[in-house]
Amino acid sequence: MPINLSPTSASAAPVAVNAQRAQVDLSKLAKLWPTPQDIGDKPLVWVNGRMVPKGQAMVSVYDHGLLYGDGIFEGIRIYKGKIFKCKQHLDRLYECADKIHLKIPVSREEMEAIQRECIRANAIDEGYIRLVVSRGYGTLGLDPRRCPVAGVICIADQIRLYEPKFYDEGMRVVVAKRPKTPRECLDPRVKSLNYLNNILAKVEAIEAGCDEAIMLSTDGWVTECTGDNIFVIKNGVVYTPPHTTGNSGSLEGITERFVRTELCPMVGVQCVVKEMRLDEVLKADEVFLTGTAAEIIGVNAIDVDGPGSGNNVKIGTGKEGTITRKLRMKFREIVTSDHVPED
Ligand SMILES: Cc1ncc(COP(=O)(O)O)c(C=O)c1O
Repeated sequence: MPINLSPTSASAAPVAVNAQRAQVDLSKLAKLWPTPQDIGDKPLVWVNGRMVPKGQAMVSVYDHGLLYGDGIFEGIRIYKGKIFKCKQHLDRLYECADKIHLKIPVSREEMEAIQRECIRANAIDEGYIRLVVSRGYGTLGLDPRRCPVAGVICIADQIRLYEPKFYDEGMRVVVAKRPKTPRECLDPRVKSLNYLNNILAKVEAIEAGCDEAIMLSTDGWVTECTGDNIFVIKNGVVYTPPHTTGNSGSLEGITERFVRTELCPMVGVQCVVKEMRLDEVLKADEVFLTGTAAEIIGVNAIDVDGPGSGNNVKIGTGKEGTITRKLRMKFREIVTSDHVPED
């Protein structure tokens, strides 16, 4: 229940107001939040030029990344100590920075070295890197010119999005009722610190008892999921929606590109970029999702109208499809080999 700290009426006597205020003990509120000791020391995190223990990894409350979601990020996998598709992640980060008129204060070489330093300092062999570039410390107010230096954070840690059993069985997803922010409003290729649209779609999934949601454009075209790109398979051909052409709009996923341009040819299947209506997804032989954190995961059912609607569409056989499995196995073979691609 929120505490109303303002006087109950304009005519209330000052004494009564003070008496009412005196009963509010703000000191106990501090216990609501974890202390740096509660948060702990590991991993060591790179924050604006310093390597510090996790509990002390902090930015200013005047940072516009926090105040306005003004900034960008990257999620990157570490396999066998290597930075998977490091070059492509750096390309996307610096391209996103250009798209939002943000000058990253460190060079690409330095950004790569920061990641390697975080991997080394935390002795990580298999894990996940989160790079964040925020507009930085500024004044209250939107004006990005008042933020002289962009903030840079690098976290090397672990991530697990979905239960391991879903990788073998496939998982159920929902179709979010909330559409994706239109392309005219925000370029979907920008991996910005504004994920509220995706988070609220994810909440729809959670309310329906699952972990992921398919997001449609405002006029009903399939775009992507809250944190993954989407693929469908029909009659042996793999399809995925375009990023910025036609009616779709999605992030240019590094995993999506890897699957489309490298893994599909390796397993001998054709991959076609094509706009799709929801119907084509529901009638597909197989559906799978891709993302750095998710890797490759099959979809076995799609909940079209939310929990209890009875409108739960089984995809294919209701298990992970055979082509999806081939792609996933090829992916695992590569990321567990001695030739994890960093290009
Ligand atoms: C909205 C969205 N789409 C797609 C992806 C997949 O992109 P990538 O394969 O580069 O991780 C992500 C991952 O962060 C995402 O957030």
